[in-house]
Amino acid sequence: MKLLIIGAGGFIGSNMVQYLIERGEHEVVGVDVTADKLEGIEGSNFTYLNADITKSPELTDRLVSESDVVIDLIAYANPSIYVSSPLEVAKLNFFENLRITEMCIKHDKRLFQYSTSEVYGKSGHSGAYSEDSSDLIMGPTTKQRWIYASGKQYLERIIHAHGLLGDIEYTIVRPFNFVGPRFDYLVEAETLGGPRVFAHFMSALITGGPMFLVDGGSQRRSFTHIDDASEAFTVLLDSPHSINEIYNIGNPATDTSIRDLAKYMMEIYEELTGRKPENEFIDIRGEEFYGIGYEDMDRVPPDISKIRALGWEPSRDKRSTFVDAMMYNLNPKVYSSIV
Ligand code: NAD
Ligand code: UGA
Repeated sequence: MKLLIIGAGGFIGSNMVQYLIERGEHEVVGVDVTADKLEGIEGSNFTYLNADITKSPELTDRLVSESDVVIDLIAYANPSIYVSSPLEVAKLNFFENLRITEMCIKHDKRLFQYSTSEVYGKSGHSGAYSEDSSDLIMGPTTKQRWIYASGKQYLERIIHAHGLLGDIEYTIVRPFNFVGPRFDYLVEAETLGGPRVFAHFMSALITGGPMFLVDGGSQRRSFTHIDDASEAFTVLLDSPHSINEIYNIGNPATDTSIRDLAKYMMEIYEELTGRKPENEFIDIRGEEFYGIGYEDMDRVPPDISKIRALGWEPSRDKRSTFVDAMMYNLNPKVYSSIV
């Protein structure tokens, strides 16, 4: 099959491309505005095209028409951007993604739409979050953090509605905090906002700066090894049962509070480098760290029974998930690129 990956130069995209090159089964075309994370990733079944899809709709339309399956990964995916630039988030993550959906409908192409675990929203649920039965609980409009999750949720609902009409074959993926090589950029000590938590804690370990615990760090997340995530994608791609369905991709075995994550990453850092980190923990209010309009999810526990039924299981435990991601960041080439 010919796969078109839009956003192939990002974290999930570059790892997916690498995995698909190794499998060698499909022809892969990747589009992005940047190829930095694709450096050194080459294969005879992979072609990269540098393009801004917002400025080249004709090119995107042609690429969609020439593909069999479209994988849409473009989005702003950092909470600090949802707070600082909510309209930019809506334009890219909702309106541009909707145009890609419409192109898939026009050319009768199967769509893999990457959504988010954030669609489950705030606390108020009990148990793990299930694709087809959990409620999606958004915060108030004046907390613009929710523009990301609301946009993703509305896009999911539109795609589902087209599925009901028989307009499109789709699979919606809800990723739960993927981590691994080529994740977010590292930052200088004491940076507020910026990248996601793994990159913040990694930066603090490397620079010796403080680890900020937003609102005390009692909120919980489950982290997924990016290689498990790439494997999950191919399980969904290969399964006829995944058509017009939504899937969580997550690893319940890694569930942790953010405070415990900071301590865990300190332990692994010491093991990997032989240096005992002595980072200070600083409790900080969410709106001070990210800006006014931030709110948080208390917990994001995935129920993965639906994808398990297709034969996928996360095979990396908590230790290897973090060791692999941290090893990449400890590479001097990456280390020296702190911005
Ligand atoms: P990313 O930011 O690393 O990748 C997105 C890519 O899209 C970037 O390389 C970016 O350059 C590209 N892009 C943006 N605008 C573009 C445009 N106009 N034209 C061409 N390319 C453009 O993000 P990611 O972490 O790889 O996430 C991919 C998707 O998965 C997103 O939809 C995100 O919301 C979703 N997601 C990711 C995670 C995670 O754990 N990483 C979790 C939940 C949801
Ligand atoms: C993010 C993004 O919204 C999406 O990419 C995606 O939907 C989701 O991750 C995901 O990966 O599944 P979130 O988990 O809130 O959402 O983002 P992180 O920046 O990784 O934050 C996790 C938690 O750590 C939050 O409670 C945050 O407040 C906290 N945090 C963050 C800290 O305590 N300290 C920091 O330095 C950074």
